[in-house]
Order: sequence, then structure tokens, then C-alpha cells
Amino acid sequence: MKGFIVTGTDTDVGKTVFAAGLAQALRASYWKPAQSGLEGETDSQAVSRLAPDADVLPEAYRLATPCSPHEAARIDGVEVEDGALELPATDRPLVVEGAGGLLVPYRKDLLAADLFARWGLPAVVVARTRLGTINHTLLTLEAMRARGIPIAGVAFSGDAEPVAESAIVEIGNVPNLGRLPVLDPLNAQTLADAFAQSIRLDR
Ligand SMILES: Nc1ncnc2c1ncn2[C@@H]1O[C@H](COP(=O)(O)OP(=O)(O)OP(=O)(O)O)[C@@H](O)[C@H]1O
Ligand SMILES: [Mg+2]
Repeated sequence: MKGFIVTGTDTDVGKTVFAAGLAQALRASYWKPAQSGLEGETDSQAVSRLAPDADVLPEAYRLATPCSPHEAARIDGVEVEDGALELPATDRPLVVEGAGGLLVPYRKDLLAADLFARWGLPAVVVARTRLGTINHTLLTLEAMRARGIPIAGVAFSGDAEPVAESAIVEIGNVPNLGRLPVLDPLNAQTLADAFAQSIRLDR
């Protein structure tokens, strides 16, 4: 197995938490190609904390401002180059977490979706269960299909919303990988337990 891309319908939907659960379950390497925003815990630091057996690789770009990578790079005076965004070599499965959602620009001529299509790993779409998620998730799936990005399935994040979840899975014709509930506390143990109980990777 080569690995997975973890994308989502939006920023802040739970991609890092899902990616940590996945990386821990697979004893994978985790890679965040571009981290925008360095104040507080970065995504890589969160994965180190939540997935103690994962191998966290260094980001290709560490950008100071918490905004779209193309703008964060401009602010820092950094040129985003395709060569730095090749998948890193690892002998473990690789879990790659994109920034924000599918059409987030790394440069104005390089969207997350362009990278995902290039990398070719199956992508998990992390979707909220809250109101608005049907539209956001179906749009994301449609754009992925239009670009030939392989879809592993949708993983939900949040409180159960069976009506929205079943609408997405049926209308989107996509595997349902399960749902991570809101964890309180959220730590390596509660995440590993919830991931094992709720996420069905065999789908
Ligand atoms: N299942 C969960 N239980 C409890 N808290 C969660 C859960 N999933 C996500 N969170 C919290 O919600 C916030 C956003 O989650 P997360 O950082 O995983 O989102 P993201 O999609 O990776 O965001 P970004 O686009 O910034 O990378 C974090 O504070 C995280 O700890
Ligand atoms: Mg994240």
C-alpha cells in the first residue's frame, strides 16, 4: 500500500485529526506539504502528539501566515516550486494532508487538486456532519472526478447526522469510511480507540 491523501471540504473540518488516526493505524509516514501559520501547534506537531507511532516528515513549506498557501508564500517572499512538492520517499505507507480544501492554491497556477492528480494516491474526503455539508461534499467529489483524482471515500467528522451522511454517500456514490465523533478529551488513546471502532478502511 502506498498511502492516502487526506483532503476535506474546507479548512478546520478535522483533516489533521483524521490523518493522525490514519497514520497511527497504518504506522505510516505523515506529510503536510505546506503549513500556513506557524503560531500555535502546527499540523505536523498535532500529528506527532496524536499519532505516537507515525513518522512525521518535514513540511516542504513552512509559511508564517495562516492563509491560503499561495498568499502565505507571497507574504514570506517564498517561491513555491513543483520540485519541492514531489511525494517524499518513505518505506512506510504515506499519509499526505492537503491545505484547506480541493481548490486551494499553492500558486495561482497550482491548485491542491493539481497536486493530488499528479500524486495519484487515493484521497479521503473529510466532511463535517453539520448543515451545509451535503453541498460542500458533493461539489468536492464532482471536482475530484472531473480531474481524475482517485477517491478512497468520505470520512465524516462530528456528531451523527444520518440524513446528511446517507445523502452524501448515496448521491455521491462514494464509500462511507465512517465517522469520527467529537472526542473529549482528544488524545492519542481516545483517537486510536475511536478510529479503530468507527473507521472502516477496508471500504
Ligand atoms: N473528532 C474530533 N474530536 C474533537 N476535536 C476535533 C475532532 N476533529 C477535529 N477536532 C478539532 O477541531 C479543530 C480542527 O480540526 P483539524 O485541525 O483536524 O482540522 P483541519 O481540517 O486539519 O484544518 P486545517 O485546514 O487548518 O488543516 C482542531 O482544534 C481539532 O483538534
Ligand atoms: Mg490540518
